[in-house]
Amino acid sequence: MKIIIINGPNLNLLGKREPEIYGSKSFEDYFRELQLKFDNIELFYFQSNVEGELINKLHEVGFSYDGIILNAAAYTHTSVGLGDAIKGIDTPVIEVHISNIHAREKFRQHSFISPNANGVLFGFGLKGYDLAIQSFL
Ligand code: DQA
Repeated sequence: MKIIIINGPNLNLLGKREPEIYGSKSFEDYFRELQLKFDNIELFYFQSNVEGELINKLHEVGFSYDGIILNAAAYTHTSVGLGDAIKGIDTPVIEVHISNIHAREKFRQHSFISPNANGVLFGFGLKGYDLAIQSFL
């Protein structure tokens, strides 16, 4: 089974960025823990701060992988293009947010991803990625 985690803008700063909201662990460290825990699946990770690169990655993996876990970060709330990309691919997508986006600013309460996602997880911290992997098993 092939699953990819795709993280959007500013998530390369996890561990340093607003730790009171996003925690103090880097995603690279957390990803290694996930790879050890789920050692029977092929787990991949891609991060970009560039909207088009995220869309290109969705096109690249979206017809052959078994699952996509997408935290589009700020593009969640702005990107018609990412929403359309998910509509256009075959692989099921689980949307993840580390924070509870519904307990924050109003602009975070709208997602262009959710209507096209197979499931949405938010507010569980990094554990949301673990739960999303389990949803594919
Ligand atoms: C986020 C929530 C977004 O609103 C924000 O722009 C992020 C991270 C989260 O994981 O909680 O960058 O997607």
